[in-house]
Amino acid sequence: MANIFSLENADQKLKALDAFILEQDAKEDALISILHKAQELFGYLPSELQLYVARKLNIPASKVYGVVSFYSYFSQEKRGKYTVNICMGTACFVKGVEKVMHAFSEQLDIKSGNTTPDGLFTLKDVRCIGACGLAPVVMINDKVFGHVTENDVSRIIDDYKNMEGSEG
Ligand code: FES
Repeated sequence: MANIFSLENADQKLKALDAFILEQDAKEDALISILHKAQELFGYLPSELQLYVARKLNIPASKVYGVVSFYSYFSQEKRGKYTVNICMGTACFVKGVEKVMHAFSEQLDIKSGNTTPDGLFTLKDVRCIGACGLAPVVMINDKVFGHVTENDVSRIIDDYKNMEGSEG
């Protein structure tokens, strides 16, 4: 598998990350923001990138790994451009989110945890995201969709696909 540092533009991304790290006064306290920045630049946080950050900050790699694995926001796997987070918390479950998950899984043709071959969507089940009043809830990147039913799924997917078409 290709090392993340051998990918296109990796040098520029590393430079941007180094510059961001330099801006932080208390580097160790800024670990979470630094990891956010690294994920924003590279899309995910594979172990070689975690190690790079640990070396830069002069802290143990285990500490970086601990933070990355604790927060579900961080991903060690390559993700699609859009992460479809389906809330499987109690309120959403009671309101039938399973059917919504099933519809996404069927229409994207992937299981939870996987990414579509075009690299556009990653499907994930997550714990309560704190918007229970809107159950069932789906969050795509930072955007929250409330009261989602299985009938809404194809429209939501199409909207994102169309957005791609108009961007290109
Ligand atoms: S259970 Fe889904 S947002 Fe709380």
